[in-house]
Amino acid sequence: MFQQTPPMGWNSWNTFGADISEELVLTMADAMVEKGYLAKGYNYLVIDDCWSLHERDKDGRLQADPEKFPHGMKYVADYIHKKGLKFGMYSCSGTETCAGYPASFDHEYIDAETFASWDVDFLKYDYCYRPMTVPGRILYHRMGNALANCGREILLSACSWGADETGKWIKETGASMWRSTGDIFDSWESIKKLTYQQLELLPYAGVGCFNDMDMLVVGMHGKGNVGLGGCTSQQYRTHYSIWAFMGSPLMIGCDIRTMSDEDRETLQNEELIAINQDIACRQPATLSSYGGWKPDDLLILFRPLSDGDLAIGMFNMADEERGMGFVIDEMGIPVSSGKTLLLHDVWSGKDTLVKNETYTEKVEAFGCRVFRAKIVNK
Ligand code: GLA
Repeated sequence: MFQQTPPMGWNSWNTFGADISEELVLTMADAMVEKGYLAKGYNYLVIDDCWSLHERDKDGRLQADPEKFPHGMKYVADYIHKKGLKFGMYSCSGTETCAGYPASFDHEYIDAETFASWDVDFLKYDYCYRPMTVPGRILYHRMGNALANCGREILLSACSWGADETGKWIKETGASMWRSTGDIFDSWESIKKLTYQQLELLPYAGVGCFNDMDMLVVGMHGKGNVGLGGCTSQQYRTHYSIWAFMGSPLMIGCDIRTMSDEDRETLQNEELIAINQDIACRQPATLSSYGGWKPDDLLILFRPLSDGDLAIGMFNMADEERGMGFVIDEMGIPVSSGKTLLLHDVWSGKDTLVKNETYTEKVEAFGCRVFRAKIVNK
């Protein structure tokens, strides 16, 4: 299925793990609409691992656990669709899912048909318990072909964690997004690690198939399945800014029914969402700080947008305030052009005209600045 911009939505894994149910999913669908997420573009509601029984039925089909989902999956799909949302589910390319439930190896076509019969719109497809005799790219080709021929448009979300150089072959399988790194945990160390691992993979990102940096941990504050200490709201803002800026799918992982207003505002920053959803989906480039000096924990990125604006991000990954800056020549705006930049800060709303060739600003520990910049006459 063709996907123009990074998918957005909510996924059950980060907070709820195996503790999922029809009631949880239905109330989450309500919250996605009532709390304004759908209106901002978050339209997929994805049930992750642990939704099924441990056995297939007599015809070899996957079956939902009736204790967790007493009315079955079509009922859940109908409810989600009535809300204007799309419905995502989960399986795995091996013999079992990562949590040990039946998975789709050698059942790809029958499972794709089952998902289609439940009106599923999105399939997250994991990489655990896969047979070592079949290469990963063939496993994803199998499900890619099965979905493309199941009679329904179903987005394939590959989840092979960047293993076996996934970026080199995933686009040929029909996947629309691919997990480029390992699992996220709700800690600053995890956010930082995934961010740096992503830098080398940015050339693989682009329209049609997006590098998935894993579900967001914004708003978890240490609670839930991948809660590992938690982060501050400032750290969540920087985490969100990086994921949005790098063009990752934006899949929320916290309990949006109970989260704070502050974290909700982070997830609903329209200007960042617009950068993430820019239709050109260009990969960001790294800039050196002050034209050459590049300390490890300061990350400066820029990304040309489809209307001629530039997105510029300064991310302070250090645990102390730092002076940060950039030279605009590095973005292709030499002094000789007579042009400069008008910076619009997407978090504070402040506008600043760059007066010299260099822009500098102090950025607080774990903080960030994201600008949407216009090229203007000096
Ligand atoms: C893997 C995936 C996670 C999640 C779990 C479920 O670890 O990477 O995102 O889907 O499996 O078991």
